[in-house]
Amino acid sequence: MQNRAQWQSRLGFVLAATGSAVGLGNIWKFPYITGMNGGGLFVLVYLFCIAGVGIPILAAEVLLGRATAQSPVGAFRSLSREGSPWVLVGGLGVLTAGTILSYYGVVAGWCLDYVLLSATGRLTATAPDDVPSLFGELYADPARNVVWLTVFTAATVWVILGGVRKGVERASLILMPLFFLTLVILVVHSGTLPGFGEALDFLFTPRPENLSPAGVLEALGHSFFSLSVAMGAMLTYGSYLSKKESIPVTTLTVGTLDTLVALVACLVLFPIIFTFGMEASAGPGLVFMSIPAALVQLPLGALWSILFFALLFLAAWTSAISLLEVLVAYGIDEWKLSRKVSTLLFGAIVYLFGIPSALSGGEGFFGKGLQEATGRNWFDWFDYVASNWFLPLGGLGISIFVAWKLEDGLRRAAFGEGTPEAWQARLYAGWLMLLRYLAPVAIVAIFLHVIGVI
Ligand code: PHE
Repeated sequence: MQNRAQWQSRLGFVLAATGSAVGLGNIWKFPYITGMNGGGLFVLVYLFCIAGVGIPILAAEVLLGRATAQSPVGAFRSLSREGSPWVLVGGLGVLTAGTILSYYGVVAGWCLDYVLLSATGRLTATAPDDVPSLFGELYADPARNVVWLTVFTAATVWVILGGVRKGVERASLILMPLFFLTLVILVVHSGTLPGFGEALDFLFTPRPENLSPAGVLEALGHSFFSLSVAMGAMLTYGSYLSKKESIPVTTLTVGTLDTLVALVACLVLFPIIFTFGMEASAGPGLVFMSIPAALVQLPLGALWSILFFALLFLAAWTSAISLLEVLVAYGIDEWKLSRKVSTLLFGAIVYLFGIPSALSGGEGFFGKGLQEATGRNWFDWFDYVASNWFLPLGGLGISIFVAWKLEDGLRRAAFGEGTPEAWQARLYAGWLMLLRYLAPVAIVAIFLHVIGVI
């Protein structure tokens, strides 16, 4: 245990954790669910979910990792009685990471395909009305999807093979500044478009009539996904964190950055949408259909779309890195594998499970077949189960364990280490209140919704 790797610097941890948090969830999903839920009020509700539930659970997870210097399963085992079922919460985390990673790579692959479509001029050579059908072609093409999934998996495996400092941390120190730079360029450009004012109004003026109770629960569920909590990624990254760093300070930073990126992504996308009089409520096709259809009509359209899809790819890549690290750290800690063997083994398993997702847009069994028989294709099933069942269940487990099971002295010390003494007591009290009462109640509400009670 003394040999466990540690981040070289605080910045390394913060950027790696932000890289995990900032992903497709921020740039693809958050804008489209905001669009579908009418903007304004949904954004406000989301901010409350992040601050009141998401960040407290994020801190709880990092605490579990740091206090035990173990990956999820080992962390729960070393803090509970022998044979205790709490270990299952750790196991569920590992399972969730694998489930999400398998289909996440398919969407990441679409970004790469779009970079290529833009760079080769094929996108700009397409009439705006026909652009959405480019996505239809890609979605239904098994070979193209599998190729991109392969490329993306290889890129992720390559970083993880390098280990914590030379792989994850180094990649984050390079990729995240690149990500922020690209994001700033894109938002400055969107700021010059005529639709910018309308976008601001849409995002920040609350219109209560457009938000349903289901939208509130969607905001809550999405806050978990977006912060990468409830499945062990942040726990694993926390296990490499030095006791000299402050958990409240670093997790507040990560949570704030993640939320800012989601909001700025909206400020990149909605001005483009409104400038061309398109629908904000287009749904999942917003980023892969509406946006490219608009971009091709702008001067330098190819450039903007290369930058945008490269941005999306960078975001997806650093998130996938954290997902694979959960599995690999599990293999290293629990099965005593070397990093190399563990990475290749779990990389291969996740890749195999990803292939049916890559085939989900097609006519075959995993696509149309399942869709007709069960109402969802393979991809949609994996996303549905992970986001609606595994994540809330994991979040509930983690918050109850840390808030109600951990011994108070140990918890208080683990929370406070690295934080200036003058702040410790108040931060601790506030955090514990949220984790004890608000978090479980909110998560139970999600469940009742998923099973159709509310
Ligand atoms: N937070 C990532 C996103 O917003 C997704 C993710 C979830 C990554 C869980 C790691 C762990 O896209």
